[in-house]
Amino acid sequence: MTKRRKTIGGNWKMNLDRKGSIALAEKLASEADTESLDLCIYPALPWLDGVAGVLGGAASPIRLGAQNFYGKSNGSFTGEISLEMLRDIDCQMVLVGHSERRHKLGEPDVLVNQKLLTALDGGFDVTLCIGETLKQREADQTDAVNTAQLCYGLAGVSSQQLAQVTIAYEPVWAIGTGESATPEDAASAHAAIRRYMEFAYGAEAAAAIRIQYGGSVKPDNAADFFAQEDIDGALVGGASLEAEDFLQIIRLAASADGN
Ligand code: PGA
Repeated sequence: MTKRRKTIGGNWKMNLDRKGSIALAEKLASEADTESLDLCIYPALPWLDGVAGVLGGAASPIRLGAQNFYGKSNGSFTGEISLEMLRDIDCQMVLVGHSERRHKLGEPDVLVNQKLLTALDGGFDVTLCIGETLKQREADQTDAVNTAQLCYGLAGVSSQQLAQVTIAYEPVWAIGTGESATPEDAASAHAAIRRYMEFAYGAEAAAAIRIQYGGSVKPDNAADFFAQEDIDGALVGGASLEAEDFLQIIRLAASADGN
């Protein structure tokens, strides 16, 4: 089994108030064991600065991530947030291509790619989310959709920059529905993703890149995902809002084989 450090993300989406976000961050900061894995939390944008204060800067073992940003430098873009602003509060990671932004907000592949390239250039680590809809899955297009989203999303990314990228495979029909992919189905999609990465970047890069699974990951199914060879962690939505559930998922990742 290739040894890759597990990586866990907590995507809080448009949830929690200021107090709740700070309290959750404080609990994670004091109790999450980050010795053997990478942990990043993505609070809602208005609470990023407050959570940054809890985590304590760039050297914090828990990294601060932004769910969204605008891929341009500071300027006249009403309502948007720049990477400079995120850097100012020690935010180090960003999500791009999340299915809610692709499907609910209409972000096309070309925008996903532009944001990803801008974030990499700006020195951020990026989690590129990909995944098929239920209709695509039923038409047996899972691997084709993932490959296309990787191909568009990573266009122009050099082998060197790939070190800043994590992939999150999140079947759209499994997000927030309580219905997760089976660990075997997820493992098969992950293996196909890694095969594409080998084709595009070579064996070494493909073996090194980390691929998270996302979609209704909970304490009672997380271990089964982490036991799969090509699953290197999870991007967790709903269960990352409950401290005990999220801490348990983090513990399971820390104790999974391959760490
Ligand atoms: P979920 O969300 O865990 O609530 O399904 C995952 C995600 O959207 O990243």
